[in-house]
Amino acid sequence: MVCTREVCKNIVWVGANDRRLNLFENLFPIPRGVSYNSYLILDDKTALMDTADVSVNHQFFENVEQTLAGRPLDYLIVNHMEPDHCSQIGDFLRHYPQMKVVASVKAIQLIGQFHDVDLEGRTISVKENDELALGNHTLRFYMAPMVHWPEVMVSYETNEKILFSADAFGSFGALPGCLFNDEVNFDRDWLDDARRYYTNIVGKYGPQVQAVLKKAAGLDIRTICPLHGPIWRSNLDYLLGKYDKWSRYEPEDRAVTIFYASMYGDTQNAADLLAVQLADKGIRDVRVYDVSVTHVSQLIAEAFRCSHLVFASPTYNNGLYPAMEALLRDMKALNLQNRTAAIIENGSWAPQAGKIMRCMLEELKDITILDETITIRSSLKQPQADQLAGLADKLAASV
Ligand code: FEO
Repeated sequence: MVCTREVCKNIVWVGANDRRLNLFENLFPIPRGVSYNSYLILDDKTALMDTADVSVNHQFFENVEQTLAGRPLDYLIVNHMEPDHCSQIGDFLRHYPQMKVVASVKAIQLIGQFHDVDLEGRTISVKENDELALGNHTLRFYMAPMVHWPEVMVSYETNEKILFSADAFGSFGALPGCLFNDEVNFDRDWLDDARRYYTNIVGKYGPQVQAVLKKAAGLDIRTICPLHGPIWRSNLDYLLGKYDKWSRYEPEDRAVTIFYASMYGDTQNAADLLAVQLADKGIRDVRVYDVSVTHVSQLIAEAFRCSHLVFASPTYNNGLYPAMEALLRDMKALNLQNRTAAIIENGSWAPQAGKIMRCMLEELKDITILDETITIRSSLKQPQADQLAGLADKLAASV
């Protein structure tokens, strides 16, 4: 059965949800699933904004077919060529023989790479500010390279003032029937997943996101239609503000997160003691994560959120504990910067973790490391507990 909703008159959400997929990109846990958003514009000409993932092929195709109600599909606008949105381009080209694909030059090149289809006479390549008239609706295209792949563009519909924003402004999480931001409790139910989505998928490309935000600032936008998660039709400044902060690598909150690795509980003991001391000093936003337990994508989201980060790790194989190394490597890959950090190491005979963590942190931009590394020899003793108290003072003063 067709399952669609109107975004506004003659623009219909024809996307679908996947609640079975465990790992997005076979990498990121998505316990709340994910939506693949696609939008159909019905005018003198019909235009579909992106396709969807192959996993929702049946529902998606039915949605498009039924909404077209026998009309031909004239255009498929391809804003982004990652397969979670482009998997069905080949099928659509075969099913709608008059349909033309409208995309950037790079995207058209990628269509040929991903799909075994004859594109001769089937594509219209567009560049910055090009327009496509559909009747009452007109689409204007803006290039958005690296948000999140190089071929990405966003499409602005000038009549309804809708920005079809590709991956930008998206979120993990299947849509619960409620499609619009004003139909959900975004702060309570969506913000964490939106942050985890942004920081892990697009976080590396802050400058490119800033470029898109500049273009968006020059447009009169009433609605933002992303490829994942809720559609925004109110309070756009809230969302744009979050993106501005995330893409400038500014912390959202003055807060402390303690990331620890611990084989037998001794390094955890230091992390917990530091957390207690911080709470005693009145710091209320303190989070403590075991990096072996919590998925690294959630740790990354917290690192983007918080102003102060503490890393506590044992030495392992004369190096750094693997899960901690993975977190720090991911932080570097995603360009995290502009944070205050502190280091706690543990080593029973030849502590190395502190030196390695310091080196890895110093590779990030604008990281201030508080104090000398605190070194624990096997288990926490009073002198190190005193050092932790000193670190808690400094963190509390800095937060
Ligand atoms: Fe949702 Fe970069 O694809």
